[in-house]
Amino acid sequence: MTDFKIAVLPGDGIGPEITQAALDVCRAAAGKFNFAIHTESALAAASAVDRGLEPLPEATFKLCQKSDAILCGPFGDPRWDNAPPAKRPERAKLVLRKEFDLFANLRPIKPVPALLNASPLKRELIEGVDILVVRELAGGIYFGEPKGYAEDAKGRYGFNTMVYHAWEVERVGKAAFEAAKLRRKKVLSADKANALEVMQLWKETMQALHDRDYKDIELKHMYVDNCAMQLVANPKQFDVLVAGNLFGDILSDIGAQLTGSLGMLPSASLGNGTPLFEPVHGSAPDLVGTGKANPLAMILSAALMFTHAAKRPDIGNAIDEAVAKALGKGLRTPDIAAKGEKAVSTREMGEAVVAALLA
Ligand code: IPM
Ligand code: MN
Repeated sequence: MTDFKIAVLPGDGIGPEITQAALDVCRAAAGKFNFAIHTESALAAASAVDRGLEPLPEATFKLCQKSDAILCGPFGDPRWDNAPPAKRPERAKLVLRKEFDLFANLRPIKPVPALLNASPLKRELIEGVDILVVRELAGGIYFGEPKGYAEDAKGRYGFNTMVYHAWEVERVGKAAFEAAKLRRKKVLSADKANALEVMQLWKETMQALHDRDYKDIELKHMYVDNCAMQLVANPKQFDVLVAGNLFGDILSDIGAQLTGSLGMLPSASLGNGTPLFEPVHGSAPDLVGTGKANPLAMILSAALMFTHAAKRPDIGNAIDEAVAKALGKGLRTPDIAAKGEKAVSTREMGEAVVAALLA
């Protein structure tokens, strides 16, 4: 068998530090399970722009194209906060999602028992929460045309278009229903059908898909504003939560708080090209070089990579368990440490996961 090829894009801010920790875990896991991996790093986002390159240089795109998976750090740099969208580091991520047609973004939200006290929400509210957010990732308002800037009699304006074809809703809906089959057989579709035509179509298409192919799965619809509230009021009601690109982006950040910290949430983006695995959090420029970054979302993203891209759920599960063990031993990065609790560094947390994996 040929090596499993991983394109590594460490990205911006804390990206390189957490990527290092994740790669150490990948190599330890690969060694333990005798599974050959080959990793190659490439420039993307601000680290590319700083060298006078595009946010996603051609060479990086080609590497991703010929790889079996992309392991991707956070993209984003405040120095470009006022740049137009096409020039921003984040652009690289959107290009990858579009080019590889990565329409199904899976964001599992499951609090680790050792961290139940780290969430700002009450323990009894989040204990037992197990949600899979399925976010549409290759369409909607992120990519809809027309978009841009213009000027009229009232002055300058900017505009984007939220558009979904029925086939786009169907394919992400199918991903959600299929995932639900292996879980508690419940899908909640978040929309804004009470205000937007595009969301009326979203809702109708989800219902028709359900009635045609997934009658054995429970389907409910909820307006996205109510859904945001329900996520903090009663998160245990959710199993699979499917939403469009923008709503899914927002709902998954809310969901992240159920786990204690955004630093814990991994994601898998699947579609019709090289699958991509990345943490949900951003590049946290204020933490660069402090050793305070939490590498666990990145490590858990690598676990998803083994499960979904390498089809080795045994390796993915072993990494998940190693993370739970390290947390069970009391190791905490500052973002998940309780008041007065001693925190470890990014590197120490990574080393503890490796140690738990090899124990
Ligand atoms: C995410 C991020 C991105 C998004 C940004 C960096 C463009 O917030 O992956 O959730 O909005 O999709
Ligand atoms: Mn986001």
